[in-house]
Amino acid sequence: MVSGPRGLWGSRVGFVLAAAGSAIGLGNIWRFPTTVGRSGGAAFVLTYLLCVLLIGLPIMLAELAIGRRTQRNPVGAFAALAQGSLWRLVGGLGVVTGVGILSYYSVVAGWTIGYFLNDAGGAFANLPSEEYVKQAFLSLISNPTMTLSLHAVFMAFTMAVVLGGVKGGIERAAKVLMPVLLIILLLLVLRSVTLPGASVGLEFYLKPDFSKVTFATVMEALGQAFFSLSLGMGAMITYGSYLSRQANLFSSALWVVGADTAIALLAGLAIFPALFTFPGLSPAEGPGLIFVVLPNVFDKIPGGMVFGAGFFILLLIAALTSSISLLEVPVAYLIDERGWTRRQAVLALGALAFALGVPSALGQGAVGWLTSLPGLGVSFLDAMDTLFAKYSLTIGGLFLALFVGWRWGVEPALDEIAFVRASRFNRVFFRILLRYICPLAIAVILVNLALSSMTP
Ligand code: TRP
Repeated sequence: MVSGPRGLWGSRVGFVLAAAGSAIGLGNIWRFPTTVGRSGGAAFVLTYLLCVLLIGLPIMLAELAIGRRTQRNPVGAFAALAQGSLWRLVGGLGVVTGVGILSYYSVVAGWTIGYFLNDAGGAFANLPSEEYVKQAFLSLISNPTMTLSLHAVFMAFTMAVVLGGVKGGIERAAKVLMPVLLIILLLLVLRSVTLPGASVGLEFYLKPDFSKVTFATVMEALGQAFFSLSLGMGAMITYGSYLSRQANLFSSALWVVGADTAIALLAGLAIFPALFTFPGLSPAEGPGLIFVVLPNVFDKIPGGMVFGAGFFILLLIAALTSSISLLEVPVAYLIDERGWTRRQAVLALGALAFALGVPSALGQGAVGWLTSLPGLGVSFLDAMDTLFAKYSLTIGGLFLALFVGWRWGVEPALDEIAFVRASRFNRVFFRILLRYICPLAIAVILVNLALSSMTP
C-alpha cells in the first residue's frame, strides 16, 4: 500500500535499471580498475567478489527492505521503525553524506566532460609522447575556469534529471542510458582483448596470486564494494521507498548487484589487457590511471579517437545516473520531512553541493593551500573523499546492519524481502550475515581505518 502522491516506479525493470544506474558510476569504471591495479590484480578481484556477496548483498537487501516498508527517506524511515530514538541520526548522516559526496563527485565527473570534449575535438590524436596526456590532464585540472565550468555543467545536468521527479526523470534517463553504456563498454572490451600482447594484462587481471592478499587488501575490497554498490547512506532506502509492494526484493537486489559487478569486471577487462601492451605504463598509476593512461592507450588503437570519446561519454553517463541518487536522498528528506517542494529542494541542495565542490575543484593546482591542505598534506578533494566516502559510508553501513540485525529485527526484514522460496537455509544464512558477519567485518575496517590514520 502506498500513501499519498508519492511517485512509484513504472515497472520493476525501471526500478532495477535506475538502482543499477545509481550503483554503476565512477566507482566501477574509474575507482575499481585503479584499486585492482594497485592491489595486485586477480586476487583482489576475487576478494572483492566475496565482499560483494557476503556483505554488499545483505546490506543492499536491508536498505531496500527498510525503504519499501516505511516508504520514507532515510531519516523518516529510521524514525518510523524506531520511534523517538536516536536511530534517525543515522538517516541524517546519510542525508549529509549525499551532499558531501555529490560535491566532489561532480568535480571528477566534470573532468570526464573535459576528456570527452578533448577526445571528440581531436586533442588526443597522434600523441607525441605518453607525457603529453599527463601534462594535458594536469593543465585541465589546475585551470580554475575550466574545472569550475565543467563542475557547474555536471551539477546542472544532475539537478535537471532530479527535478523531473521519479518517473519522468530518473527512470526515463536510466532506461535510455544504461543499455548505451553497456554496448560501448562491450565494444571497448572487444577491442582491448584482441590487441596483440593482451595476454599479459589478462593474466594480471584473471590469474590470482594469493600471496598478494593481505588484511589491507581485504579492507580495500570491502570499502570498494560499499562505494560501488551505493550502500551506507540510504540511497537504496530512498530507491526502495519508490518500489511497489509486488516486486520481489531479493531478485531485484540480485539484478542490481549482478549488473554493478558485471560492469566493474568489464571495465577492468577493457583497461588491463590494453594497458599492459605499453611498456611505460604501470597498473599502479593511482587515481590518475584512466585520465592519464587511457588516451595513450586509445591513441595506439586503430580508431582510438572514437573509442576514447565513447569511453568518456560512457563514464559521464554512468556518473550522472549515480549523482542523481546522491542528490535524491537529501531531496527526498527535504520533501518528506520538511515540506519543501521538489523544485525548492533541488535548487537549494544543488547550489549547496556546487558551492561545497568549489574548493575541491580549485584544489588540484589552482589554489596552493587547497591542493595540499596545511597539516594534512592532501588535497581538499582527497580530504572530502576520506571524510564522506570512507568514514561516513562505513559508519552508516555499520549502523544499518546493527539496526536491522538487532533493533528492527531480521524477521520483519525477511518478510519484507520475500525470498522467492524463503527456505530455512536462506533465513538462517541471512540472519547470520546481518547480525554477525556484516557488523563485525565493518567494525574491523573502521578500527583499522582509525588506527592507520593515527600513524602518519
Ligand atoms: N555507486 C556510485 C559509483 O560507483 C557512487 C554512488 C552513488 C554512491 N550513490 C551513492 C556511493 C550512494 C555511496 C552511496 O560511482
